[in-house]
Amino acid sequence: MSLAQTLVLNDGHSIPRLGFGVWRLPDDETTATVTAALNAGYRHIDTAQAYGNEVGTGRAVRESTLPRRDIFVTSKLRTADFPPEKARASFNATMDRLGLDDLDLFLLHWPVPAHDLYLDAWKTLIDLRAQGRVRSIGVSNFLPEHLKRLIDETGVVPAVNQLELHPSYAQRDIRDFHAQHGIAIQCYSPLGGEGAAVLAAPLIAQIAQNHSKSPAQVVIRWHLQQGLIPLPKSATPKRIAENADVWDFDLSDQDMQQIATLDRADGKTLPRPEEMNTLF
Ligand code: A2P
Repeated sequence: MSLAQTLVLNDGHSIPRLGFGVWRLPDDETTATVTAALNAGYRHIDTAQAYGNEVGTGRAVRESTLPRRDIFVTSKLRTADFPPEKARASFNATMDRLGLDDLDLFLLHWPVPAHDLYLDAWKTLIDLRAQGRVRSIGVSNFLPEHLKRLIDETGVVPAVNQLELHPSYAQRDIRDFHAQHGIAIQCYSPLGGEGAAVLAAPLIAQIAQNHSKSPAQVVIRWHLQQGLIPLPKSATPKRIAENADVWDFDLSDQDMQQIATLDRADGKTLPRPEEMNTLF
């Protein structure tokens, strides 16, 4: 495996196996941080309308000397813009903020089932893809019941579902559903989110020491060895580079089994999808 290595999505397009997340980065710091990530070798950047840093993200991509095609860019439709009369204009506004001609991946950010608009929004994403404005489309924070509804009603299977997923909240119960439908899982908060709680587990520290790697590198490697697509975030150049240096070691089956013992039903840091009912 290497930093340039990709997975093939269910629509035939490729996605780099490791991405860089920019949630919580202020827009005016995002260009420098994403530039540090590109310099460290990341080729996959994950932003969202709701993060408020599409401008800074797009500037880093445009100012990079890398060809545009070498950088995979994701953004997400905010839930307040799910109504059909808003969704298309909202996508156009994203493209204006990014300053890019096209997008690699556009996601529905949360299902917000109480508002019952995610199916309509999915149909808009299908249209945008048909028009060539975005290469791949997917969702975030969707449960299998929401995914199933999209598939049953439109026949279009999301290419990805982006979920909170880390050793303390491994989402084992819904992985099979994703595998059966060929839906790739991007993982946000792969280190446990703000404060990186997962990295404090003594077990992770022990395994890291055994491999002469850092706890963060062990956790990112744990994702990669399961075919998951982690999106670690850091504002610190040293950590950005550290989190990309994960290709020179293998976790053993025993390491993987031990890390699996950290999984907890209450290990999630954000609301469960069905509990997130406010629009943003
Ligand atoms: P910082 O941005 O100050 O580096 P996640 O990717 O799960 O959302 O985790 C993000 C959190 O983990 C941030 O608080 C980030 O802090 C911290 N973090 C990122 N990389 C590392 C690392 N290699 N070692 C320790 N903490 C890290």
